[in-house]
Amino acid sequence: MTIRAWAPGRVNLIGEHTDYSGGLVLPMAIQLGTEIRGERLDGRVRLSSANEPGAVDFALPVADPAAVQPEWGRYVAGVAASLPTTAGFEGTVSSTVPAGAGLSSSAALEVATALALGASNDHSPLRIAQLAQGAEHLATGMPCGIMDQLASACGVDGHALRIDCETLQVTPIVVPEDARIVVIHSGQQRRLVGSAYADRRAQCETAAALVGPLRSATLDDVSHIADDVIRRRAHHVVSENARVDRFATAFGAGDLDDAGQLMIESHRSLRDDFEVSTERLDTLVSHLIATDGVYGARLTGAGFGGCVVALCRPDVDPIPKALDGWIVVASQGAHLR
Ligand code: GLA
Repeated sequence: MTIRAWAPGRVNLIGEHTDYSGGLVLPMAIQLGTEIRGERLDGRVRLSSANEPGAVDFALPVADPAAVQPEWGRYVAGVAASLPTTAGFEGTVSSTVPAGAGLSSSAALEVATALALGASNDHSPLRIAQLAQGAEHLATGMPCGIMDQLASACGVDGHALRIDCETLQVTPIVVPEDARIVVIHSGQQRRLVGSAYADRRAQCETAAALVGPLRSATLDDVSHIADDVIRRRAHHVVSENARVDRFATAFGAGDLDDAGQLMIESHRSLRDDFEVSTERLDTLVSHLIATDGVYGARLTGAGFGGCVVALCRPDVDPIPKALDGWIVVASQGAHLR
């Protein structure tokens, strides 16, 4: 049987570093994605990549996904282990999602792998996202939240998704016709992302131990945290959740000035309180928001390099000549072709 599984990357419009404390996020699946083509193969996965060196070859069930070589194969093995399945495939994977750019190339690979392994016969898109998130923990130890996998599995054509990471309710919000969403790579590969991400997550857990779940904490609750770093991390999360709600209303109503302003505030909070920006990202965001026709811009994804996202008028293309960029459209979620 021939398999053709496709899963998109995502850009997060607003709601950063909130998913792992049950907060609100607003990502959108994009037209850049990852495709696996192959044939069924019982008891094994054999996969070569058009983008990465080496080929993956392991028997099912897979015992230790974190030991699989080459490293990109760990995402594939993690999914096979978390399903779990013994019905494998032999094929090739190719992707238009740049790696290390904050556009969820790993979630796209995980979700495409789940589909190639037949997950949609037994599981909903929501469940596939959960399995893919578990696969990432298993295979790489990166304690990611659920946003990326949900955006990839549940994307809706022409819509961004407001996701409540506590209830896992996904609400599509139509992208206004007069909005153009542009993603620009800073040229800075993300670095230190695994450990710095885990540190931030631990700091949010420390804050929650002091003031209760950050999703229901208020800015006043947070202001009583004595430790300066923990207080600022919590301040980011609580204020970011409120910004996502306001953004969802503004974006849904086509109020792009307001939506853009909230993106600018989100970036400042990520820079000053959550400290996941870099000079290069800050410079790029400053340049963009000073450009006529740009409503707002911010870093997107975990930070420490990677991409920024800008909300613009459709006649504006703000991608600086020296940098890579994409005009992204809201794409449908993962599917078998
Ligand atoms: C990465 C993680 C997500 C999320 C973002 C930050 O993309 O995989 O779960 O935490 O960082 O918002």
